[in-house]
Amino acid sequence: MVEKSVRKRKRVKKRRFEVEVRQMTLEDLPEVWRLSEKIFTPSQLQFTYRTWNVNELLSLFQEDPELCLVAEDVASKRIFGFAIGTILKRPFSPWTYGYFVWAGVKKIRQRRGVGRRLYRELEKRFKDKGARIAIVDVESNNQAGMRFMEKLGFKPSQTYIWYSKLLE
Ligand SMILES: CC(C)(COP(=O)(O)OP(=O)(O)OC[C@H]1O[C@@H](n2cnc3c(N)ncnc32)[C@H](O)[C@@H]1OP(=O)(O)O)[C@@H](O)C(=O)NCCC(=O)NCCS
Repeated sequence: MVEKSVRKRKRVKKRRFEVEVRQMTLEDLPEVWRLSEKIFTPSQLQFTYRTWNVNELLSLFQEDPELCLVAEDVASKRIFGFAIGTILKRPFSPWTYGYFVWAGVKKIRQRRGVGRRLYRELEKRFKDKGARIAIVDVESNNQAGMRFMEKLGFKPSQTYIWYSKLLE
């Protein structure tokens, strides 16, 4: 009889953590910027990396801090996620759009419902500000981003193509 071998199964135990989703403050900006630089990398999210910069963060924060949110670890007080939106209004049109512009969750905390919680709060704020439609754009090679948006209830709407040209 073959001796039963005891197999040590390597388990990656996910540490439990308590999250608070709250409005971003001025003091949070450096930490959010540092976190974003780890998430929006040129190798994984090329166009996101190109279009995201510190001025973008500052100007969206200055425009409407109520639409800039962070996810904070209650115990350590470290920020590990953020979601940023803005309101788009067209003159002479009754429509107000909530534009979900940026979102990022630290890699080791992804797939734990943090992004969803951040967006839920943002959407609530969009509605409070009169938005009737939420819009978002995602790079076409960002499968995780697309699945995430679809899970939040967004439907693919229109294809937008980024062209690039090497300038010799
Ligand atoms: C997109 C992002 C913010 C999602 O954050 P998150 O905290 O991991 O998302 P959640 O755990 O709340 O996921 C909610 C749902 O989205 C879908 N989803 C999220 N990440 C996914 C992935 N990698 N693959 C497939 N589906 C995914 C799932 O349906 C998930 O629900 P489930 O886990 O119950 O199946 C995060 O992956 C991220 O920071 N990505 C890099 C930056 C980025 O792409 N930002 C968006 C464009 S600016």
